Amino acid sequence: MTSFYLSKPYEPPQAPAKLPLDESWALFGGISPEQFMARYWQKKPLLVRGAIPAFGLSEQHGELLDSPIPAAELLKFALQEAVESRLVQSKPWSFENGPFPKKSIPSVERPNWTLLFQGMEAHHPAAAKILSWFRFIPDARLDDLMISIAGIGGGVGPHFDSYDVFLIQMSGRRRWQISEQEDLSLNPNLPLKILQNFNVEQEWILEPGDMLYLPPHIAHDGIALDAGCQTWSVGFRSPSFKELLQEGLWRLAESLEDIPALEQKFADPKQRATHAAEQLPEELMKQLSLKLKELKLDQIAGFLPGITAYLSEPKQQALFEAPENPQNPKAFQKNLGISRLIPHPQTRILSLGKQVYCNGEPVTKGQAPDILLAWQTLSANKELNTKKLKQLDQSSLYEAYLAGWLIFEP
Ligand code: SIN
Ligand code: CO
Repeated sequence: MTSFYLSKPYEPPQAPAKLPLDESWALFGGISPEQFMARYWQKKPLLVRGAIPAFGLSEQHGELLDSPIPAAELLKFALQEAVESRLVQSKPWSFENGPFPKKSIPSVERPNWTLLFQGMEAHHPAAAKILSWFRFIPDARLDDLMISIAGIGGGVGPHFDSYDVFLIQMSGRRRWQISEQEDLSLNPNLPLKILQNFNVEQEWILEPGDMLYLPPHIAHDGIALDAGCQTWSVGFRSPSFKELLQEGLWRLAESLEDIPALEQKFADPKQRATHAAEQLPEELMKQLSLKLKELKLDQIAGFLPGITAYLSEPKQQALFEAPENPQNPKAFQKNLGISRLIPHPQTRILSLGKQVYCNGEPVTKGQAPDILLAWQTLSANKELNTKKLKQLDQSSLYEAYLAGWLIFEP
């Protein structure tokens, strides 16, 4: 593969703060994000040739583009504890979780293996930039950007995912086969989730810069055709109603701690003598039902803060470190006017109306108006550059900086 020696890394641009939702995008083969959502999202697969035109254009000019992360650099992530990695080998199938010692990392020339790196937006700016183009889909739905690198023949086998995925070919070629088959039974004898029967219906060879979108439950299999084949997958998440309701209810229950009046004890001066002593008292039911109504516990609005807080929780393996030399509030304030404050790449920020939730915390609750506005800007634009912030000292914004949740752009 002499091409590797002539190639230079593709540098993805950062998406503009306001994405042009009704304009034609090469990423979707000339349709707009609005049209993509209406026609394909959660509905049917879409293959886009030249989704990233830079690859094809460079080739026309006799220069080859390679992945933003060269193979040697990418493989080093497998050594790191902080990066969630997996090694899948085919022939025979085997599966191992990282981190890996240097000697177990396969060389690119070896066939039939693939290494997968989860949550790469936190570890490489190019991955975060690719992700920024997908912010026409709510942040709450986004999971992460996974990168796979493989030797010839490498792949994870025919399987299905329960989530939407955009598979972007970034280096080498990969053959994708897909099927809309209903039989999604898995082979019980394998260490991986591999389909028992895979009835290929469509097949394409993806070149660097091509993209394949798959809605949930489409059977698929991607096999690397070139050494060092890289596929970048933008993956989504969709919690079950059970998960949402359990998490919402649990947080709602916790929030009752803030209502001192609820310490009041149940009283039943109207209780009459009864023959049905074993039954739960009517009076208790009546008063409880009244309380539920009074506290609006029977209304959806009460659940949403807890659910938003839950969905804003960072990934389990997220690690935040306090700044080495934290700036005092005055220096922080001054710096805010010069540099951009951004969320740490593992920080999640979501909004519910005017309220903002960061890493599971309701950070705007009880905050001064300018701090509220700062959080709203951070949540919407994922950056903040402002001069005036009063009452910064005790604010949740400064606290989030001290906790390493917010950082100044390096
Ligand atoms: C891969 O990149 O090899 C696997 C991605 C997927 O099938 O979801
Ligand atoms: Co998949």
